[in-house]
Amino acid sequence: MPDVFANITNVPPAMLDVVANVLETRAAIPSQQQMIASYLGEIEFPKNARVLEVGCGTGPICRTLASMPNVGEVIGVDPSEHFLAKARELSPKSARIMYQQGDGKALTFESASFDAVILHTLLTHVPGPEAILAEARRVLKAGGWLGVCDGDFDTATLRIANPDPLQACCDAFVDNFVTDRYMVRKMSALVHASGFEVQPLRSYGLVETLSPGLTMSWIDRGADAMAQCGTISATLAAALKAEGRARAERGGFFGYMAYASLIARKP
Ligand SMILES: C[S@@+](CC[C@H](N)C(=O)[O-])C[C@H]1O[C@@H](n2cnc3c(N)ncnc32)[C@H](O)[C@@H]1O
Repeated sequence: MPDVFANITNVPPAMLDVVANVLETRAAIPSQQQMIASYLGEIEFPKNARVLEVGCGTGPICRTLASMPNVGEVIGVDPSEHFLAKARELSPKSARIMYQQGDGKALTFESASFDAVILHTLLTHVPGPEAILAEARRVLKAGGWLGVCDGDFDTATLRIANPDPLQACCDAFVDNFVTDRYMVRKMSALVHASGFEVQPLRSYGLVETLSPGLTMSWIDRGADAMAQCGTISATLAAALKAEGRARAERGGFFGYMAYASLIARKP
């Protein structure tokens, strides 16, 4: 099964609801909030900055951006009307946040019309990320800021021993929900080749032990994907999910992935 995010307009509503919940669960993790505040804090927004988030999903990053000093207007773009409806529901009613359906590879905005563009966990999910970066560069003003952040999916792990059956779920999750697991490692070169001045990459960790939310969802999504394509039975998928819960219950759960952020500017 290809990355669901890469073909989001063809995903059934039930799966969209699962993913929308996961996006909000992830955004509520304190270490993720610190990471987001930290890298967005590196951007020197000019007064009344006009900011675009491409691939905004349910809007957690847009909501954070709207609360930041100097940010005047935030526009979130996503191909999924389902996610945008959720984003509108969760955002404060304010003329400062607006959501619009669209494709990051063909934005409808005028050239040089934004002070900052944010790509938060988008580039790992799109085939042909160069097109997204070209559009981000086009809509940025000269001197405008690009903020990129993504998971380094090749580091995703649930393994506490070798072999560990829960790692199979983690691997199936990455295979079915990510387009390029190595994107973070190519990000600096890619952004530089797209015509930006790039600052050094910064690294963060996400670890869940007690009350895992995001990384428990890797088990569910990975096990379901394996059952759906017939690799394992529905009974085994249910057993793997139960094992994840039992492991968390006895305090033995470990879910981890590294993230990285990058700040760049349009010359
Ligand atoms: C992993 S989600 C991230 C959502 C949000 N940025 C967040 O961090 O919660 C990736 C998002 O990219 C969107 N997406 C996929 N292809 C896209 C494209 N070509 N242009 C814009 N967004 C796209 C998906 O619909 C999805 O909402």
